[in-house]
Amino acid sequence: MNSWTRPLDGMNALVVGGGGHGIGRAISRAFAAAGANVAVADIDLGRAREAVEELTGQTLALAGDVRSTSAADDFVGATVAAFGRLDTLVTVVGGQVAFVPAVRLHEMSDDDWDLAYEMNLGYVARAVRAALRAFLAQGGGGSIVSVGSVSGVMAAPMQAAYGAAKAGLVSLAKTVAAEYAADRIRMNVVTCGAIATAVANTGQAADDVPEIPLRRLGVPDDAAAAAVYLASPLSSYVTGQSLVVDGGVTVRGPFSV
Ligand SMILES: NC(=O)c1ccc[n+]([C@@H]2O[C@H](COP(=O)([O-])OP(=O)(O)OC[C@H]3O[C@@H](n4cnc5c(N)ncnc54)[C@H](O)[C@@H]3O)[C@@H](O)[C@H]2O)c1
Repeated sequence: MNSWTRPLDGMNALVVGGGGHGIGRAISRAFAAAGANVAVADIDLGRAREAVEELTGQTLALAGDVRSTSAADDFVGATVAAFGRLDTLVTVVGGQVAFVPAVRLHEMSDDDWDLAYEMNLGYVARAVRAALRAFLAQGGGGSIVSVGSVSGVMAAPMQAAYGAAKAGLVSLAKTVAAEYAADRIRMNVVTCGAIATAVANTGQAADDVPEIPLRRLGVPDDAAAAAVYLASPLSSYVTGQSLVVDGGVTVRGPFSV
């Protein structure tokens, strides 16, 4: 039975990157408001603690660097130990310019390519694997939501590794959906357009953006609402999908109206 007002009621969530001030924080807040117990993992323990302090329900603040190969197992293990089980995983950490310079491909070093790929797909695969193992050990059932980008759907000029990794996320979601459907485990991607956070520094007013059909930048809650839906039983018949939250940018044709 769906709960329309608290769709995550009774669920235990782990939000990797949930301590930020943008999409991750909004997801942590929305998940708690929707009824979940929320574990926030972040490289910055202070951010994780600050994020959980404002939440209701059971909470847990975890520190760790997703680049460490043991971080995902540690985050999932600590969440299960604290809450008793894990019902939903959200991966938020990502970006290119936050980690490596924006350059054309011929200028990109091997190290920068590897880091951008790791921060947007490599660690996600390990986090998903850790969650799958926990879900299966619990007897099946579970949902995974990854924050993706329209850069994985369209060209990603100056951010080739980012775009390729975000495209890979959607492939990963499809494969997880196919491999684990019989175990009642779902994975979907929230594919974000320009969201008004520190990294979406367009310098334009949020409500007057002619390039975006809905005429405004997104806000973190736009992504959080999609994440709540995809994590919850409201989307129990949806798996392996990319839900595009971009104000209509990717459906715009060459002749604007
Ligand atoms: N803001 C946008 O316009 C936009 C557009 C498309 C996609 N996205 C996606 O949104 C996500 C990020 O959202 P945001 O920009 O609002 O950031 P955010 O404010 O949600 O912050 C992300 C958090 O990740 C943490 N973090 C960074 N490196 C880490 C590491 N190595 N280990 C653990 N934690 C780490 C940071 O401390 C921060 O708290 C990314 O996946 C990005 O690709 C954003």
